[in-house]
Amino acid sequence: MRNHRAQLVQGVRMTTSDPHAAFSAVSDTSSARQGQLESEAARALFGRRTAKSDASHLVPYLRPGLRLIDFGCGQGSLSLEFASLVTPGEVVGIDVAEASIAQARAQANNLGIGNVVFHVADIHEAQFTEASFDVAHFSGVLAYQSDPLATLNVAYRAVKPGGLVAAREPQKDGDWVGGPNREAIMLLNRLIGEDAFKSIGGDPFIARRLGTLLLGSGLERVEVVPGYSPALSSVGAVANFFSARLADVAFTSRVVRRGWITEEQLSAMPRAIKVWRDSKASVVAVAEAMALGWKPVV
Ligand SMILES: C[S@@+](CC[C@H](N)C(=O)[O-])C[C@H]1O[C@@H](n2cnc3c(N)ncnc32)[C@H](O)[C@@H]1O
Repeated sequence: MRNHRAQLVQGVRMTTSDPHAAFSAVSDTSSARQGQLESEAARALFGRRTAKSDASHLVPYLRPGLRLIDFGCGQGSLSLEFASLVTPGEVVGIDVAEASIAQARAQANNLGIGNVVFHVADIHEAQFTEASFDVAHFSGVLAYQSDPLATLNVAYRAVKPGGLVAAREPQKDGDWVGGPNREAIMLLNRLIGEDAFKSIGGDPFIARRLGTLLLGSGLERVEVVPGYSPALSSVGAVANFFSARLADVAFTSRVVRRGWITEEQLSAMPRAIKVWRDSKASVVAVAEAMALGWKPVV
């Protein structure tokens, strides 16, 4: 169904009206998923996460012998660190993207980490014994689900009574940028986010309701802390990711076709990114919230 609602965002007409939507929805979804979540550029960006920087809410609760499942583990950078922290316990990483799991397995091999296994699976179809994990973890995953409560329910079933569910998820309207071409970079940030979340489904503002979702899944003693991702708030890393998105013809033709930006505006972006990336004055902050909740012991 067409939606003719339109709004003006930073001088660019953004509209959800898309006459080709019915024909292109499936390919838009897989192409956006590929570029946003499964591409080499995406793995390079999310691979910057470390347990110390981006799992500081969870690390104090990890100890040797625990069993942890990392849902949507991507290239596994966090899963591998968790494995070191819980050894001789075990980490299971699950992701739907084959290339990401291949990279995670190769890295486990390179590092000689033996207490981690990675599986290609959709979270909602993953096979595991119920109540067999001490900890379930999500990082940048619930935001991409059409029904994040259903996804959290999978985690609830996976953990033992008294077990912990941890999540770190985005709040895209909290991102900010400084430096030359600040407005162009913000526009691109919005465009890339809007494309990803509208094409894949999900909620770019999920952080603000993360606590409600955790409580809704039956978890208790829920804690939510706002913050910025230290790993993702990197000018160089964000500039590289944005450049890769601009080199993706499926992405650029989609956002032009949707009327979100003109070709002229898009053609000025590579230069704007380069100037922003090269300036010592530039800064970027990527907003997220970290949440913890415990399964009741009953
Ligand atoms: C933004 S990346 C984050 C990767 C990793 N958790 C991190 O923080 O570095 C999101 C990951 O979730 C995976 N994903 C999203 N929905 C999924 C689902 N329903 N089942 C399995 N994996 C999923 C994607 O393939 C992608 O690797």
